[in-house]
Amino acid sequence: MNTVANCNKYREKIMELFENPDTLPVFSGGDEDIFLVDTHCHIDGEEYDHDRDGMIARAARAGVKLMVNMGDRMESSQRSVKLAARYENVYTGVGVHPEEAFPFTQADDDRLAAWTKEPRVIAIGEIGLDYYWEKDEDKRQLQRDIFIRQLALARDLDLPVCIHDRDAHGDVLKILQTEGRQNRGVVHCFSGSVELARELLKLGWYLGVDGPITYKNAKKGIEVVREIPLDRLLLETDSPYLTPHPYRGRRNEPGLVRVVAEKVAELREMSLADLAARTTKNAKEIYGL
Ligand code: NI
Repeated sequence: MNTVANCNKYREKIMELFENPDTLPVFSGGDEDIFLVDTHCHIDGEEYDHDRDGMIARAARAGVKLMVNMGDRMESSQRSVKLAARYENVYTGVGVHPEEAFPFTQADDDRLAAWTKEPRVIAIGEIGLDYYWEKDEDKRQLQRDIFIRQLALARDLDLPVCIHDRDAHGDVLKILQTEGRQNRGVVHCFSGSVELARELLKLGWYLGVDGPITYKNAKKGIEVVREIPLDRLLLETDSPYLTPHPYRGRRNEPGLVRVVAEKVAELREMSLADLAARTTKNAKEIYGL
């Protein structure tokens, strides 16, 4: 079978599901007191070009009143800056993701630094290490180099960072204990153990929780959510990825951070409104929203 045709078919199917309001979650009324923040999403891409306004309006109806978009390349960082200028409830980070690592020059540092002077640009992110996709040792070294370099940039600019750590727990922790000792921010989509969570909390980091907490195999994630102090927890979607259950298989969007919030509230045996208030306070603290 033709793979491109298959991909296109899959894409059409997702779009169709998404444009059909019957497939959207229905959130009950009387929610004026729910104030959630999606602290990590990627809504600058073409997946949202046809319905971005509608998607942001749906988020507001679900109680998601602010969102933080993360750049992952120079191009998407530039798009993110424009997005934040256009929507007053969208904030943004600028940075280069480990999977997009390239040898930085002073000009790249300068471009990132210049963007942080624009409205609602509040972080360097998303940056970090990804050893799941990258097996080549030279390229992993390049990831470490630009991670450390962007941490230094964030310190110079006095901005928080948003960290991606996939299958690189040991090196991320080592870097945060040494070069990143004076940085602050969030380890997003935290996928480590309770022990690693405790090490990061000791260093002052916040941890981000997303859709996978709703999946059947979420044992480790559930343990972390139950164990860590609520004042270090942030909610996020990582849209368009990591769509929560039962909406898996279609494009994620910031409104669905509500589903993540409901799951965390259930695990912590507290009301959604309280959980929302606590995590929104955290988001405001670390990102200065
Ligand atoms: Ni991300």
